[in-house]
Amino acid sequence: MSKKIMIQGGKPLNGEINISGAKNAAVAIIPAAILVDGVCRLENIPNIVDVMVQLDIVKGMGAGVRFLDPTTVEIDATHIGTDDPPYELMRKLRASYYLMGALLSRYNKAEVAMPGGCNFGGVRPIDLHIKGFEALGAVTSIKEGGFVCVEAENGLEGKTIFLDVVSVGATMNIMLAATLAKGTTTIENAAKEPHIVDLANFLNAMGADICGAGTDVIKIHGVEKLHGGTYSIIPDQIEAGTYMAAVAATGGSLTLTNIIPKHLECISTKLIEMGADVEYTDDTVRVTRTGPLHKCNIKTLPYPGFPTDMQPQMAIPLCLADGASVITEGVWDSRFRYVDELRKMGADVHVDGKVAVFNGVPKLMGAPVTAYDLRAGAAMIIAGLAAHGETVISDTRHIERGYDDIVGKLQSVGAQIEYVEMPDEGEQA
Ligand code: EPZ
Repeated sequence: MSKKIMIQGGKPLNGEINISGAKNAAVAIIPAAILVDGVCRLENIPNIVDVMVQLDIVKGMGAGVRFLDPTTVEIDATHIGTDDPPYELMRKLRASYYLMGALLSRYNKAEVAMPGGCNFGGVRPIDLHIKGFEALGAVTSIKEGGFVCVEAENGLEGKTIFLDVVSVGATMNIMLAATLAKGTTTIENAAKEPHIVDLANFLNAMGADICGAGTDVIKIHGVEKLHGGTYSIIPDQIEAGTYMAAVAATGGSLTLTNIIPKHLECISTKLIEMGADVEYTDDTVRVTRTGPLHKCNIKTLPYPGFPTDMQPQMAIPLCLADGASVITEGVWDSRFRYVDELRKMGADVHVDGKVAVFNGVPKLMGAPVTAYDLRAGAAMIIAGLAAHGETVISDTRHIERGYDDIVGKLQSVGAQIEYVEMPDEGEQA
């Protein structure tokens, strides 16, 4: 027996959903609190597993962690230590690698378990992170048991680092390492995602001296120490995009509150091409789809291009569009494992390496499917909502890593979706 998500699909979504704080900002800002010799109060924290694991990791290292309300947490890293980080927790998520940059910055030493996280088929290297740390004067080694050790006996010295591949994680990790280094570090060809800017804004609010975040050149002028303070995390661009793709697939009209329009431009542009209407105010977006879905082509790219983390979700309306649509995955080696599950629902898709062609079909049919990873799991939910009949999704733990109460939020806008306990495949009921 295990927990699954059961959906009776074919119903339009109508209503309003409030968007939570950004997962990929929160999982970097929590380790960043290690740099602060004092108390950080973080607002708009999403209630998701990856955030709770990051908080358990810093707590396991001696930080004080106290929730003031469900979305506000205080972290006191005054007495945090480097010895004995909770390695098993670190293996649970890729973002634990941010502890390397944070611990290296504060203590000139870090030993971190090789990261876990979504495995959507390709490798997820950290060579650029290591290149950055070594450029700043650290010595790195891989220890038995899959631990990465980084150490800078004489402290870190600012340098110019060129990232030959645009990498969110490497950009954030080098920023963390450079914050308390001597001198100035320049990151060239830096990633520009909203969560990069959020991390820089958080660090600056605590007394760091970082400029250029959001452009491809970020300068970090090292400072002696950081002080405590309060910071509110940006809304989650991908959570919002996921609900925008959902209403495009099911039809209906959703208003999303607590969003930043600029972060959703690339997503709404594609939804308009597909035939949806999109209307923004300063902090809300309403997406309505009543007519037919039109085909369109998508290529995922680093921000401000179309986000790879929205690729599986956007495939669902394209499965139902008139004609053939092409999705090209421009960031990861492969990110189409979820297509096998869509075929069980009647989708007509052909995948060749980094390119998938979706030939629109009149409808999808509900089926038992598996969530292979976080965004593939979100795509399975959208497919179930759009399909006719019943869909049961297994391995929902992947979805809970990154979506705050997705079942409750969808129930509130008319979806017939619920958690159920069911026998696993081959198990007797
Ligand atoms: C972050 O992963 C996100 N995760 C991913 O979101 C997202 O898909 C990705 O950025 C791209 O936007 C978090 O923020 C926790 P990268 P990250 O380093 O940092 C290559 C989700 O669904 N690369 O930007 O691991 C890499 O192979 C997750 O929320 C190197 O070659 O991604 C890839 O092709 C899934 N060497 C490209 O860069 C390195 O050292 C982009 O990777 C690092 C990366």
